[in-house]
Amino acid sequence: MKVTVVGAGAVGATCADNIARKQLCDELVILDIKEGVAEGKAMDLMQTAQIEGFDTKITGSTNDYSKTAGSSVAVITSGIPRKPGMTREELIGINAGIVKTVTENLLKHSPDVIIVVISNPMDTMTYLALKSSGLPKNRIIGMGGMLDSARFRYFLSQAMHCSPNDLQATVVGGHGDTTMIPLTRLATYCGTPVSNYLDAETLKKVAADTMVGGATLTGLLGTSAWYAPGAAGAAVVEAIVRDEKKMMACCVSLEGEYGMNDICLGVPVIVGKNGWEKIVDYKLNEEEMAAMNKSAEAVRNMNSVLSTLGL
Ligand code: LAC
Repeated sequence: MKVTVVGAGAVGATCADNIARKQLCDELVILDIKEGVAEGKAMDLMQTAQIEGFDTKITGSTNDYSKTAGSSVAVITSGIPRKPGMTREELIGINAGIVKTVTENLLKHSPDVIIVVISNPMDTMTYLALKSSGLPKNRIIGMGGMLDSARFRYFLSQAMHCSPNDLQATVVGGHGDTTMIPLTRLATYCGTPVSNYLDAETLKKVAADTMVGGATLTGLLGTSAWYAPGAAGAAVVEAIVRDEKKMMACCVSLEGEYGMNDICLGVPVIVGKNGWEKIVDYKLNEEEMAAMNKSAEAVRNMNSVLSTLGL
């Protein structure tokens, strides 16, 4: 089993670190366009192998895609991160061209790869990877909803003074400050509705904090976050390589599900060895569906920018 991580920035390196520690593959290749960076991070990570007790062989390469040949899964983290005050959407002009090139290069050497997209704006980059790869839809997965759901559980756990592991809570829709939809009505604490424990105002604040979760971190860090985004990417890789059939909120191509077509948007999916294998119908109510439609409209507007960029 071979896995590739493209982009050796903070998110890519963290993702690779998680993949190695969990020993998800025998071979892990890290690629970056900056001379020496992927090689250096791979070597640094390999020097944790004895300390952490993993046997994954990690190698780095400066943009040589032949090194990625035969990858079962590839994670795309390439592109620039946002700076404080920027939205994810503002990155499209630079990141779209990069993600398209990366996708095409990966395909040349790993025609059967499953691609996990982290680069922003994630929904549009997932759509672009789908269109430019021509891969079956199940092989392209954007990880945004996993990350946003983890943040939702974090903010809920803070408000409830409970373990995030005792919470089930999902964020669907786009991976944008105004497009994501924390599904508060369906969130549970050990199987019981969170509304049993938190009042409406607190729940509203939890949802609002979740939506700007990434922006808050960007403000604090001066660049976008990496621990949770990297871990979320690795969790999707884990579900694939271990054929977990886990339900995860991921950005996938919709063909009639949730009443939508020709769009990649965050919905609950089952992830296993074939990529995303099934879309789960959460039976959203009218208000939640209205939010989904609004989110889809914003994502579609972003997707339409691709043609103006000649992509
Ligand atoms: C975030 C970026 C990775 O939400 O989209 O932190």
